[in-house]
Amino acid sequence: MLNITAICPGIRYVGVNDRTTEKFESMWPLPYGVSYNSYLVDGSDKTALIDTVELGSLPDFLQNLRQAGTHKIDYLVINHMEPDHSGSIPEIVKAFPELKIIGNRQTIGMVGGFYKITDPSRFIEIKEGACIDLGGLSLTFYMTPMVHWPETMMTYVKERGVLFSGDAFGTFGALNGGVTDLEMDTDWYWNEMYRYYSNIVGKYGVSVQRALSKLKGIDLQYICSTHGPVWHDHVGKVMDIYDRLSRYEAEDGVVIIYGSMYGNTGVIAEALGRELAARGVRRIKIHNATRSSMSDMLADTFRYKGLVVGGPTYSMHLFPAIEQFMIAIETRELKNRIFGSFGSFSWASAVAGGMQHYTTKMKMNSVGHIEMKHSADETILTAVASLADKIVAGLNAES
Ligand code: FEO
Repeated sequence: MLNITAICPGIRYVGVNDRTTEKFESMWPLPYGVSYNSYLVDGSDKTALIDTVELGSLPDFLQNLRQAGTHKIDYLVINHMEPDHSGSIPEIVKAFPELKIIGNRQTIGMVGGFYKITDPSRFIEIKEGACIDLGGLSLTFYMTPMVHWPETMMTYVKERGVLFSGDAFGTFGALNGGVTDLEMDTDWYWNEMYRYYSNIVGKYGVSVQRALSKLKGIDLQYICSTHGPVWHDHVGKVMDIYDRLSRYEAEDGVVIIYGSMYGNTGVIAEALGRELAARGVRRIKIHNATRSSMSDMLADTFRYKGLVVGGPTYSMHLFPAIEQFMIAIETRELKNRIFGSFGSFSWASAVAGGMQHYTTKMKMNSVGHIEMKHSADETILTAVASLADKIVAGLNAES
């Protein structure tokens, strides 16, 4: 028996763990693996399967369905078409030839595009608020575009207060025996949630806010995301984390992201960390951008209010790892940060202009910039202390 778990009467988990793939979307490290969650909803008349799994996990998925005793699936609900959930659709359609695919107009177009399944008789197209009766249990559909793709939607079983939420409220990290949060110590999943949100969903804060407002007032006993634990005890906490992250609201603390070829620019990062600590800042994360993963840097950046970024001039551009980071936060439309920067040069500087390029696009005001020629001296260290003062003043003003 793999991960088949009864969540509540009529609803079972049949998803799979992936502890083999090294990088999600070929980019984001998976040190603790990832789960692709799928669920069976058994009404007295009909059975619905909610989402499938990534193609590489198809054998485990089929085994789960067999062991769950699933001889007939009437409906396959596709909440999200990214291939980590849709990859097994063609094989599931072959294994259960009678099933109808339920999705919205965009979903149906994508099933045709990705998997060449185009026979209209295979589909049931639904719209916002549509309801399908399974006998004693029913499925109601909420359109939640751009959480995380345009076709994304959520499916709600009102008789049980169960929401199949797609990627929303998901985390990296495979399931380690327990499936619901009732069955596990959830501590280590929280950072995996920050990492998942900031890496994958981070750009779509406005869409997440729209989705959250649709969910206001509905009874939520269980949130069944496509990745990570099924939430029951922590429904309020995960809604709160997604609400704050999607409003770009952050906690007290400062992240310093730096690049340094020979250590001279790194001196500023270390000195700034020390000055901030001396002023009482207790949560400080310093990342060397050429060593730390983009995934961890984004997670900390979404988590903390203060952000300081610096690096040397490189061929009259920002240092490449720093430029990549600035592109990543601009892509995610990061807002509401106390931002500072620093740069170095040997004969001509491009850092101040490079930083300004991004802060202007992001409409983010900088509290200060330090420019260093060659290496640090007393003047630079005084400027670092002054930047620390400004950052702490910003943190205090917002707390
Ligand atoms: Fe888990 Fe957007 O796919």
